[in-house]
Amino acid sequence: MSAVEVWERYASNSRPRRAVNAAGASTWLNWTQYPDHGPDESVLGDLAGRRVLELGSGSGANLAHLATLGVNCKGVDLAPSRTSTAVAEWGHLPGLEFITTDAVTFLAEDNEAFDVVYSIFGAIWFTDPPILLTAIRAKLRTGGVLAFSHLPATEVGVVAGPAVSNWNYPAEKWENMLAYTGFTAIATVIAGPADGEVGTLLVRATAV
Ligand SMILES: C[S@@+](CC[C@H](N)C(=O)[O-])C[C@H]1O[C@@H](n2cnc3c(N)ncnc32)[C@H](O)[C@@H]1O
Repeated sequence: MSAVEVWERYASNSRPRRAVNAAGASTWLNWTQYPDHGPDESVLGDLAGRRVLELGSGSGANLAHLATLGVNCKGVDLAPSRTSTAVAEWGHLPGLEFITTDAVTFLAEDNEAFDVVYSIFGAIWFTDPPILLTAIRAKLRTGGVLAFSHLPATEVGVVAGPAVSNWNYPAEKWENMLAYTGFTAIATVIAGPADGEVGTLLVRATAV
């Protein structure tokens, strides 16, 4: 099975996000695996006039929230059905575009520069870090922000699969890897909403 097939299967089992969150908002940005938990888009810094790219944008709900704030956004996802779903739900929003492609391929072929790149349980978790981080740095303006989240590291570390692998690096390893590829970074673990619930690793880096 190819990576595209794996992600198409994942997409076919995923449920749409709720129509409104606990605060009654119809769009919002969520970094964690829990509803109504963790920080919001403020992690990305001042977004006014910025060009934003999401890697592994899924059904597009996080990026759609940024578009409603007037931000110019592009989302890329490997799975064609994710693009179809995102366009069907959010394609009416101005300044928002979704593309089906692999993150590394997109960064290699696209000529555009970005101010902000982010990934929520997305392509950064599933792509060999030196390759993807180097490609991101090449398209991110100096001073630009890279942020991403995924599950916290386990002792297993990199989980290699036949089609899809996970890079479950701990915070310090991400910080070192990002320093090596042209960033200064701070990685933290957001505690889960209740005792005993697994947290979320959140990394915020600045391109230097
Ligand atoms: C776990 S889902 C998360 C989706 C979304 N970010 C969210 O928070 O709901 C991971 C997504 O990343 C996409 N993806 C995985 N590897 C990718 C790659 N190399 N390039 C682009 N997208 C990728 C998958 O197709 C999938 O939609």
